[in-house]
Amino acid sequence: MVNKLIIALNLMQERLQKIISQAGIASRRHAEELILAGKVKVNGQVVRELGTKADIAKDRVEVNGKKLTVKSLIYLMMNKPKRYLTTRNDPRKRKTVFDLLPADLRSVVWPIGRLDFNTEGLLLFTNDGELTQDLAHPSKEHEKEYEVVLNKELSEGRITKLREGMELDGKKTAPAKVRANGTTIYITIHEGWNRQVRRMFAAFGYTIRNLKRIRVGKVKLGDLPLGKHKFITKKDIV
Ligand code: URA
Repeated sequence: MVNKLIIALNLMQERLQKIISQAGIASRRHAEELILAGKVKVNGQVVRELGTKADIAKDRVEVNGKKLTVKSLIYLMMNKPKRYLTTRNDPRKRKTVFDLLPADLRSVVWPIGRLDFNTEGLLLFTNDGELTQDLAHPSKEHEKEYEVVLNKELSEGRITKLREGMELDGKKTAPAKVRANGTTIYITIHEGWNRQVRRMFAAFGYTIRNLKRIRVGKVKLGDLPLGKHKFITKKDIV
């Protein structure tokens, strides 16, 4: 019984570096540096051990003398329409994806990755710095699936090239998953090079008539209407 209680209490505890990065103060690595530099206190005591755990709901955790508070983490998915920028501001005053969010969310979240001005489909938003970093890391092999409508059918030879990895500006792309239905292609990649899908098809001499992202990792766009967003959970994403 006592053992069970101890296990339950331990579950509420997290490593300090995780607590600090989740509070949005620093990346996990920077948090470790802060701990080693003696800048972190738990209940008034400086801690320098990287393995130290605390419960932010009960313990007073201070970084550089500032008390951390629990931040509520937000995760959103949006169906981005074409002709919207994935930036906060545009000097040319074009519409941005933030114009599609309610004012109270606009300043709190940021997009995870980006979609081109003329690409539509699934865009994720969060205020979770740690998840953003995790997903950006190439080792995570995070899949992104696109529906591409081409000007003409893709030859078998091109499909094989995409599946094997192709040369793009001196670098080789990782093997893609590819499925074709007439001029509509479903392609899954996990790199996030700038304008990658457009450049892959342009290199073959094809024109993209429509580009839509339909999945990121486990999250599917589904029937979310264009321009709308909805709340999801971290578990939906990873
Ligand atoms: N690849 C592109 O070319 N554009 C996007 O918006 C996303 C992936």
